[in-house]
Amino acid sequence: MPENDPKGLRSVIKELVISRTSVVYLLTEEERRVELEIKALSQAFKPPFRVYVWSCTTGVTAEDSAVLPNPSIMEALDWFMGINETAFLVLNDIHVFLRDNPPVVRKVKDVIKRIENTYKTIFLVSPFMEIPLEMANEVVLVDVPLPQADEVEKLLFQVISREKNGEGLRQSLADDIRDQMVKLGAGLTSQQLIQAVRKAIAGKSAVTTREVDLLLEEKKQIVKKSGLLELIVQDHGFGDLGGFATLKKWLELRKDIFSKRAREYGLSMPKGVLLMGISGCGKSLCVKAIADFWKLPLLRLDMGRLYDGLQGTPEECFRKVIKTAEASAPCVLWIDEIEAGIANAGQKSLGGAASRVLANFLTWMQEKTSPVFIGATANQIELLPPEILRKGRFDELFYVELPSDVEREEIIRIHLARKNVTPQGWRFDNLRKITEGFNGAEIEQGVIGAVFRAFTERRPVSEKDLYIALESMVPLSTTMQEQIKQIERWAHNRALKAGGP
Ligand SMILES: Nc1ncnc2c1ncn2[C@@H]1O[C@H](COP(=O)(O)OP(=O)(O)OP(=O)(O)O)[C@@H](O)[C@H]1O
Ligand SMILES: [Mg+2]
Repeated sequence: MPENDPKGLRSVIKELVISRTSVVYLLTEEERRVELEIKALSQAFKPPFRVYVWSCTTGVTAEDSAVLPNPSIMEALDWFMGINETAFLVLNDIHVFLRDNPPVVRKVKDVIKRIENTYKTIFLVSPFMEIPLEMANEVVLVDVPLPQADEVEKLLFQVISREKNGEGLRQSLADDIRDQMVKLGAGLTSQQLIQAVRKAIAGKSAVTTREVDLLLEEKKQIVKKSGLLELIVQDHGFGDLGGFATLKKWLELRKDIFSKRAREYGLSMPKGVLLMGISGCGKSLCVKAIADFWKLPLLRLDMGRLYDGLQGTPEECFRKVIKTAEASAPCVLWIDEIEAGIANAGQKSLGGAASRVLANFLTWMQEKTSPVFIGATANQIELLPPEILRKGRFDELFYVELPSDVEREEIIRIHLARKNVTPQGWRFDNLRKITEGFNGAEIEQGVIGAVFRAFTERRPVSEKDLYIALESMVPLSTTMQEQIKQIERWAHNRALKAGGP
């Protein structure tokens, strides 16, 4: 179990029960898992707590048999007030009953008063945060974390043992394969995990790297379906990125920052970097390379989706994103074009929601101790609220300029190599000269154009092909000189140049 993990759910609830908390609000999509956790916890006490579960279809049940078949929540609360035993009452889908429903709110408050000094606790379970203001002071909120590594491992073995060939599968499971599967399982709910693992291993005779790949595919689909995050699997590393010398050095110093040794040494977890600068200079590619550098999973947040209302309110969405990212930690959370979601100007058009998301984001960045490394990119820095640039949020702000002549040569060589072209004897001083003002994306286009030319004429790519392809291009920078100057002025003294020296 990674040491950075927040305290397990069971120990958090246990402390609350011991301190005689009357009402605990469990914010979670995992009703079933939470119920099992509460039941397991109830057994840890002497005498054990009796666990009653209420839902609007079954009324109150205990160990799956009816105790109070009447489905009314008011009656359930009345009944719970009256019983004389140490007990838990789990109320499901509570958001529906608390929303604009003064009698239920009143009733919960009455119950709180009555059970205050008894060993009874009510658990309100809901995927949505719906605590009416009137009872906010009396209810303890627990944002239930997704299953942690040890739980994931348990679930993995549980699924395996339920397979027909469970014993054979278990014996085939090598330690490194198990570790890879546990890592992939992080960030999923228990139900998602069970289904994904089942799909990956069903009918198999052994668990191998193939099954790891299948699980990865499943996870990609599940994360994508959530609509907010995408798990990016890619193989771009710093070898594919020309320039960025200062940033590369910055990272090199932090190569082992996620290691156990670094933690033992007392180094704090890095928070992340913000890369800003004009389009096409490799900011997005750089974030991919960062994930590759540390060999961490890369989760991309779609800021636009945060506000489209399909997945709930922006704040709820943001909370879910944090939950998934923290459960997947260590990982890199990629926020592309961050200004689109939390910018000053954006705030006006998006209404109050954007400023609330911004506030949540800032608090999270400030207090975050989990190894979620944020790789954020921004093009329109003037839109970024100053708070986000203050120290204590990002570890470093990097400014990405148009590549220098040395860097342009590096980029040309990288893209030639990617097309398997060996530029033997080419005169790069000429190429450097005609690519003045080009960004990396344009250089890449030039190389593609050259390769295309040679391909059509059925011959190897020559220096001249590249020359011709580049010569006909007008770089974006010629039409945006004023903007570039403005960005440079802004970044001067505020940000570190990503390139070097
Ligand atoms: N420094 C570079 N080294 C190598 N390739 C580069 C570099 N910069 C850009 N490229 C090429 O251009 C492509 C586009 O770059 P990328 O998307 O990373 O730019 P960006 O700065 O994120 O642009 P935008 O602001 O428009 O999102 C990359 O996938 C890569 O192929
Ligand atoms: Mg980009």
